[in-house]
Amino acid sequence: MAPRIVKIAAVGTCVPERIVTNDELSLALDTSDEWIRARSGIRERRIAAADQATSDLGAGAAVRALSAAGVVPSQLDIIIVASLSPDMIFPPTASFISGAIGADGAAAFDLSAACTGFVYALSAGSAYVASGQADRVLVVGADVVSKMLDWEDRSTAVLFGDGAGAVLLEHAVEDEEGIIGFDLGNDPGGADLLSLPAGGSRLPASSETIAGRRHFIQMNGREVYKFAARIIVSSARKVLADHGLGIEDVDLFVPHQANIRIIESAAKKLGIPPERVFTNLERYGNTSCASIPICLDEAASAGKLQHGDLVLMVGFGAGLSWGSCLVRW
Ligand code: UT7
Repeated sequence: MAPRIVKIAAVGTCVPERIVTNDELSLALDTSDEWIRARSGIRERRIAAADQATSDLGAGAAVRALSAAGVVPSQLDIIIVASLSPDMIFPPTASFISGAIGADGAAAFDLSAACTGFVYALSAGSAYVASGQADRVLVVGADVVSKMLDWEDRSTAVLFGDGAGAVLLEHAVEDEEGIIGFDLGNDPGGADLLSLPAGGSRLPASSETIAGRRHFIQMNGREVYKFAARIIVSSARKVLADHGLGIEDVDLFVPHQANIRIIESAAKKLGIPPERVFTNLERYGNTSCASIPICLDEAASAGKLQHGDLVLMVGFGAGLSWGSCLVRW
């Protein structure tokens, strides 16, 4: 059987209500609104409530995506959740989301590829639909990074925010729409540049790991910055070239929202004009696996995504990993 064309049938998002501004962070940390805006472009972020976990936001996004598509949860075949802040190590966060939305019976699993997770999960989900193994796959990118941060470390605490986005994948009936292709990769040499070291089998929880603050995200920001600025450009060029397309064909560039300086430098090198670059990190910070689907939802609601537009998404993150995806909207 020839592979089926796979389309993004609907998008939904969910972010916590609480907005935390740079000024509010400056009350507890040795930082300032001026530094955070100048170095990252972030003005504020959403922070989850004490009792809100990743699956709560993920379920909210899932319900919105399904209702936008007019699909009921029992019609889902598979739920894939990309996250670096799962509710628990196991069972998978996808199982909690399945329970919350009433998708009993659908296969449910998590995919761990840090901030690149959404693009990897999109690739996995689209392969299921393309092969005919599934008709409807829900891909959720959800993170409550705030609970993984060291709130005494100003170099990471100011950069992230919480949120979730979900997309429903179905096979397309028209061939002018759908997912065109991916470029995925990983450089294991950079594994120590961005990590959450303790709590797994390498460094199980102990009084030492707690005292040493090893249960929080640790990052060499400068090195991750250099990697990101380089890999966005090379991965975007590769996925376009692989499908006989050029930068001039891209209607909307949706990069992972980590730092406005990374995005502007990559867009400039690629030759994509600012009006074709979507950003919202000034309002959300880096929401990790949720950043790209939140952008897709906001771009669609703002009328910046029309049927037939070519969308280029590029994610990157710990691993160090990267993933690009081209979609005809
Ligand atoms: O999802 C992917 C994950 N992450 C990323 O993509 C992050 C990539 N990296 C970055 O976005 C940037 O490297 C940062 C925003 C993290 C930092 O910007 P930078 O221009 O690379 O700054 P820097 O790390 O070189 O730090 C400059 C100075 C340092 O002080 P000294 O050593 O020059 O005296 C830091 O201690 O800024 C200081 N600093 C801060 N000052 C005020 C670091 N964090 C803060 C802060 N407020 N929050």
